[in-house]
Amino acid sequence: MFEQFAKDVDVGLSAQEKNLSSKYFYNKIGDELFVKIMNMPEYYLTRAELEIFTEKTDDMMAYLGLDNERHFELIELGAGDGTKTKKLLAAMNHNGVSYDYIPIDISDHALKTLVDNVSKDLPETSIKPKQGDYFECLNSLKKSDYPKVVLFLGSNIGNMPDDMACQFLQQLAANLKTHDKLLLGVDLIKPAAIVLPAYDDDQGITRAFNLNLLQRMNDELEAEFNLAEFEHAPEYDEISGVAKSYIQSKCEQRVAIKAIGKVYHFAEGEKIHTEISRKYSDKVVDDIISDTEFCIAKKMTDGNQYFADYVLNKR
Ligand code: AVI
Repeated sequence: MFEQFAKDVDVGLSAQEKNLSSKYFYNKIGDELFVKIMNMPEYYLTRAELEIFTEKTDDMMAYLGLDNERHFELIELGAGDGTKTKKLLAAMNHNGVSYDYIPIDISDHALKTLVDNVSKDLPETSIKPKQGDYFECLNSLKKSDYPKVVLFLGSNIGNMPDDMACQFLQQLAANLKTHDKLLLGVDLIKPAAIVLPAYDDDQGITRAFNLNLLQRMNDELEAEFNLAEFEHAPEYDEISGVAKSYIQSKCEQRVAIKAIGKVYHFAEGEKIHTEISRKYSDKVVDDIISDTEFCIAKKMTDGNQYFADYVLNKR
């Protein structure tokens, strides 16, 4: 992990357009800051998707084919805190649907918190958590003949550029059988006046989340970033629907990273691209699934039409 982090940082900071992967946001501090982000008034995404899971649960079960005639595997990619998923689980329990809930996450800690949370509120639920890489875990589930419903919520797919999202969905489809389903939660394209504050809140929580990458390099790679010399710089293009976060250098400076044994130069105003948070329309979803074995079966949105959960069928 350390080796890979050092390698990725060196490649990213040596590039013509400096960049760091948003996957490195999520250490202990980053996880805690992300929980705070989800509770911020500006971060509408979580509330909007929770509204769908609360108000449209019956439709969701029907569209996903979750009846009480068969046993299902309900697989969730990325553990989350279970708040949204519990709405669906409660409805399935109420309707006598037979299933195993299989959350998959790379983080043991995240899985344990989720399992405790679900077991406490819905003790009758059969939970079979799997720790590891999404596709390795999905591959290990391939043997079973139970119909599968995969949840990939929270617009997590939006943190991938479109070509990567397409590859991700191709790989996902390769691990599923015909008629299996994917519930894909995506943030919808909307005006900058709504999107930008979600990534640039008044309390500075998103700023801390972004700059934590510099702190992480200081802590884990003996880097010498002075966080006060960098700024959080989010952007959003409401035509394409792409939000991007950058860390911008306030002055010309050189920063040593001892574990790599190099010094990196930053011009005044130079940016490090740290995250993409893509927003979607039917057209964008169509485009990213066009080369995959998925097709759109249904779409559910919240009352404001801020967020959508698409039901995709594996052909
Ligand atoms: C996890 N992901 C969907 C979040 C997003 O909205 O792109 C991460 C995030 N970054 C800044 N705020 C939230």
